[in-house]
Amino acid sequence: MIELVNVSKIYDDKSRALKDVNLTVYENETLGIVGESGSGKSTLLRLIHLMEQPTSGDLLFKQTSTLKWTKKDIRRQKEKMSMLFQHFNLLSNLTVLENILLPLKLQKRLNKEKALSLLEFVGLKDKANSYPSQLSGGQKQRVALARALITEPQVLLLDEATSALDIQTTEEILRLLDEVKRKYHPTIVFVSHDLEVIKKTCDRVLVMEKGEIVAESKVSKSQLGTEGLTYKEKAIKVLSS
Ligand SMILES: Nc1ncnc2c1ncn2[C@@H]1O[C@H](COP(=O)(O)OP(=O)(O)OP(=O)(O)O)[C@@H](O)[C@H]1O
Ligand SMILES: [Mg+2]
Repeated sequence: MIELVNVSKIYDDKSRALKDVNLTVYENETLGIVGESGSGKSTLLRLIHLMEQPTSGDLLFKQTSTLKWTKKDIRRQKEKMSMLFQHFNLLSNLTVLENILLPLKLQKRLNKEKALSLLEFVGLKDKANSYPSQLSGGQKQRVALARALITEPQVLLLDEATSALDIQTTEEILRLLDEVKRKYHPTIVFVSHDLEVIKKTCDRVLVMEKGEIVAESKVSKSQLGTEGLTYKEKAIKVLSS
């Protein structure tokens, strides 16, 4: 579905965020990406979301290289992807319903019925005319999820989407995400530093360190002691055993 081939990203200030990353995201899987702060997780998501370009290497969607894509090709692919952020990124001057409709407005194909049915799906039917400031963190992320789903994306990208939420609210969002998977079958890339969240949600996990993928693990549900281990060792142990 998505492939990165020898992808490196060096920013203008010469900081190297990604180094020779090779990775395949398979259709309909939920791939987790974990790693310590600064390891390159968000950079990787921004490249997949076509918000930034690799300095070298290639990014492919369904076996098609993006290297020679026109602005129109990029826009078409972007319309098939949605991203969720840690701090929700809702527009404070728009109501909940207007926020959810925003991606369709940008694509000039408004559909209020669809927005209302998604609002019902995320359990916030009665909040259509509220403003983001009137919602809790968990409710804001539900609105962001409804907004992400309104374009029927093939790919959902989550950057620390539950990291600003408490444990119970995180559980609620993860349950909703399970429903999203059953109902819409998107391909998901879930970035988090929280191994427990990744473990509950993902089929497969990659561990990043200093811009490189240093380990891959299938997720299993057993629990082991992890005191005194490095992040990489801990990740492998918690995620696979
Ligand atoms: N726009 C930018 N300009 C310059 N350097 C950047 C930029 N974005 C990221 N970096 C650098 O690239 C590296 C990777 O950053 P990135 O944000 O991808 O890490 P991360 O794994 O998402 O970290 P966190 O867990 O803290 O969100 C860091 O060293 C960071 O300073
Ligand atoms: Mg990040």
